[in-house]
Amino acid sequence: MYAGPHRLPSKVEPMVQEFDKVGVVGLGTMGAGIAEVFARAGFNVVGVEIDQDACDRGRGHVDRSLSRAVGRGKLSEEERAAIDARLTFTTSREDLSDADFVVEAVPEHMNIKQDVFGDLDRICPPGTILATNTSSLSVTEIAALTGRPDKVVGLHFFNPAPVMKLAEVITTVSTSQETVALVTEVAKRIGKTPVTVGDRAGFVANALLVPYINDAIRLYERKIAGREEIDAAAQKAADLPMGPLALADMVGLDVCLAVMDVLWKEYRDARYVASPLLRRMVAAGHHGRKTGKGFYAGQDEQPEPTPDGRLAQMIREEENLDLGEMLIAPQIDDALRMIGDGYVDAKDIDTAMRFGCGYPKGPTELLEDRGPESVISTLVTMGEYSLTTIAVPAPLLMDRLPEVEAGEGHGQGGCACQS
Ligand code: 3HC
Repeated sequence: MYAGPHRLPSKVEPMVQEFDKVGVVGLGTMGAGIAEVFARAGFNVVGVEIDQDACDRGRGHVDRSLSRAVGRGKLSEEERAAIDARLTFTTSREDLSDADFVVEAVPEHMNIKQDVFGDLDRICPPGTILATNTSSLSVTEIAALTGRPDKVVGLHFFNPAPVMKLAEVITTVSTSQETVALVTEVAKRIGKTPVTVGDRAGFVANALLVPYINDAIRLYERKIAGREEIDAAAQKAADLPMGPLALADMVGLDVCLAVMDVLWKEYRDARYVASPLLRRMVAAGHHGRKTGKGFYAGQDEQPEPTPDGRLAQMIREEENLDLGEMLIAPQIDDALRMIGDGYVDAKDIDTAMRFGCGYPKGPTELLEDRGPESVISTLVTMGEYSLTTIAVPAPLLMDRLPEVEAGEGHGQGGCACQS
């Protein structure tokens, strides 16, 4: 229900007094979902695309999503009409000349972002906050494209944007406190749960989710297991709503590859080397649902590949290895490294994975369920079969071992676990 222009907390009032009109630039799956989210929350939304065909496609995404909600009795026809009335679509960025807040969701190429942010900086009033939904580019570099880096943030939504409750608020060294307060408030007003973190490759959720998807692709590529077996095992292990290969098809294999490449570029760690199969599928245009070809998309006629080879057999005979745990244990290890880096705390990690990716329990809660011995044992056994590049479990994971005194396990995790 529309509650009129939104008053901001008093401390940011000198900057923007009323907040009403939101621009969304780029109306692909994510942008259209973001436009819908703002319109549903009562904001007047202007969606911008490059030409009329793209505008029509964006409107089509929103129409289908709203029809689905009406069909399921989640939205009345009157509410839908009110949401429609708050949404306008245009091919002119100049129509954002009075926008209070703009979210950019255009393709992930720095030259396209440069064009968009250059225009937004010129067109929008000086007080307008500019947010990017980028998942694989540096928010800091995007902010530096403008003359207002203090008013630029990342506002990262999760697919499907109308459903997933997480919004990562990404700050840079230039972002002002007023901007952070405002954007956090906006995220709450649109019904999202904000997790605010600094600018770093993959932020929180993608840095944990996408390497896990990449691990699943590697298992598939090495014929350790078929796609349905891999997905079922991961779902069972952590009670997940979708398996990793189905999720890759949904978020886009091109997006997964872009995230892996940015992680690799930042850390140069073998853990972040993209699977060759992922790279080839993207090169072939198999981007998942959006191009109609992926692990499942367009594969109806293809038989499920049969696991084969000596390695697949050895792993099946190995008592200490469970396919689902082989996917979950490295993610738990990644989560503890992220905490160890001082980037984010356990509570925010669990919130991010619960609200962004539909996990019933976040990685540190999954660790509590299993206990550190079990996770470490899986990692060590995987190492013996060259199934992971994690040579030594995370120091914070080792620290949880009850029998290891604080500090003793550091740097010699592999040996300590095998004894
Ligand atoms: N658009 C709008 N609404 C949708 C939708 C879509 N594409 N897909 C599902 N929904 C809605 C349905 O209307 C339904 O809402 P309702 O309960 O109010 O009626 C609700 O979602 C559940 O839908 P279904 O019952 O049909 O389907 P599921 O129960 O199987 O749930 C799912 C679908 C929500 C997608 C669930 O499988 C899930 O949570 N999957 C994990 C998704 C995930 O991990 N997303 C994050 C990916 S990473 C990312 O996006 C970041 C990027 O940078 C890579």
